[in-house]
Amino acid sequence: MKKVVLAYSGGLDTSCCIPWLKNKGFEVVCFSANLGSEFSPSDLKKRALKSGIRKIYIKDLRKEFADQYVLPCLKAGACYEGKYLLSTALGRPLIAKYLVDVAKGENAGFVAHGCTAKGNDQVRFEVSINILNPKLKIIAPLREWNLNSRQEEIKYAKYHKIPVKISKNKSYSIDKNIWGVSVEAGLLEDLGKEPPLNSYITVKPVKKALNKEVYVDIEFRKGVPIKLNGKKMDLVNLIEKLNRTGASCGIGRTDLIEDRVVGIKSREIYEAPAAWILYTAHRELENMTLDRETFYFKELVSLKYAQLIYQGLGASKLKQAFDSFVDETQKCVSGNISLKLYKGNIIIVKRNSPFSLYKKKLATYGKDDEFDRDAAQGFIKLWGMPYRKLDCCKMQQSHDYSD
Ligand code: ARG
Repeated sequence: MKKVVLAYSGGLDTSCCIPWLKNKGFEVVCFSANLGSEFSPSDLKKRALKSGIRKIYIKDLRKEFADQYVLPCLKAGACYEGKYLLSTALGRPLIAKYLVDVAKGENAGFVAHGCTAKGNDQVRFEVSINILNPKLKIIAPLREWNLNSRQEEIKYAKYHKIPVKISKNKSYSIDKNIWGVSVEAGLLEDLGKEPPLNSYITVKPVKKALNKEVYVDIEFRKGVPIKLNGKKMDLVNLIEKLNRTGASCGIGRTDLIEDRVVGIKSREIYEAPAAWILYTAHRELENMTLDRETFYFKELVSLKYAQLIYQGLGASKLKQAFDSFVDETQKCVSGNISLKLYKGNIIIVKRNSPFSLYKKKLATYGKDDEFDRDAAQGFIKLWGMPYRKLDCCKMQQSHDYSD
């Protein structure tokens, strides 16, 4: 019998994949990566077994996800189209890596995923799988079957006695890991309407957010967050703690009309409290510790880095080269940033770094000013010289042959 390993999340799509693949004559083995999803491992196991599976691998990959995928992206300052800190995009190559591993251990010639034909995730999964084992055949049931709506899928699942979670958020497609939640479809497809309250998955709507300021202090060493409020924490714990604190203060929800890899624009809501707090604090520390040219250039790198991750090209040489560049820039990104969180806002309160390039003696307007004021005039004269009307524009005008 042909064997397939299915990347199973416990959601409606991958649940429906089980009977569909079985009907195609496959023996189905499931693999679930725990990156901090909405289902607990025991819940997942129960659901998979009830769906007619005999074997499921569940692997807690939160640490590897945080250290190897999230952290480089945080250090790079990568943010897609200004609002997406790439939670789903970062997770896919890691899931693919273990999917390929399980397929090898199971001697399976096929792997399957529950991604749609117009999404980015199919691209990320398949690019990664093809790199790791080009011989594996990939099945994407959602590109093949003719279940054309969530309602049809629910009917199909019920017919095959597959447990489906009918919850208040059932009309949305949700992907959750420790770095963030992605919410799309259902009522969110109507851009003329405000997102309903039931589209809030972890973050409190501002109105219901804590009505007090919450202070947090983050210590970074070489760009890595190592302490929260003075307490040493590993990255997974630190992120999970910040998610809870941030979510209760209404932090980290963004609403983006984004450019998908396949060329369409789509609307996605993201909830990423910890990611936004860390991104903001990290950037603040860089503002203080990086010299101007490095900071400017890193902005360009951040932009391109985010595109590579989003587009499933994290295995590229360019991304590797960016990581080396970024690590070089992080050598002095150490220190503490204190922030206060209040009703959806992240407000910087204090900054402190042994590598700070801010020199009060140069910046002050007070009596301790050590800035060389006499040098300013000459500096400005040379700085603007190439653009002076007399020197350049007149000369260019006299060479204007357009008439
Ligand atoms: N648009 C996001 C991305 O491409 C998330 C995709 C998954 N979203 C979802 N709601 N299931 O990375």
